[in-house]
Amino acid sequence: MLSQNLQDAFNEQMKNEFYSAYLYMAMAGYFQSEDLPGFASWMRVQALEEMTHGEKFFNFTCETGGRTHLLPIAGPPNDFKSAIDVFEQGLTHEKFVTASINNLMNIAVEEKDHAAQIFLHWFVTEQIEEESSFSLILKKLKRVEGDGRGLLLLDQELGQRVFVPPTQSA
Ligand code: FEO
Repeated sequence: MLSQNLQDAFNEQMKNEFYSAYLYMAMAGYFQSEDLPGFASWMRVQALEEMTHGEKFFNFTCETGGRTHLLPIAGPPNDFKSAIDVFEQGLTHEKFVTASINNLMNIAVEEKDHAAQIFLHWFVTEQIEEESSFSLILKKLKRVEGDGRGLLLLDQELGQRVFVPPTQSA
């Protein structure tokens, strides 16, 4: 059974994950308007993943007898200066999410909630991957800065990403 404290924190994190989906859809819209369909597609896949992250918190809260509260989601930025600006903002956002996951884990440890700790392990690992993928694309973007052909090649590469729904246990 989730404590009230953890339940509130999980509901807050559910909001953060759904906001992430909203943010990445806004970024997809920007890339679409810049005629970079590969980048747009990558962001759409990222948004779908974030929806599944939000759902994991929803499901775990229900399964542990907690009460879900869907909190208001702020509007994301819609205007960006460049692809580099998008990925810088994306990386900053992922660092914020990592910090909030770590904070949840701290609460779960303090409260000796072992089930919540096991559940959160997946997110701790996932955040390493999330920061790493934004960081890697940012580095590639900086490498091809000012090179239109390099940007188009990167657009093709990012367009290959496909959405893979996580399994129930992963
Ligand atoms: Fe669900 Fe990108 O953090």
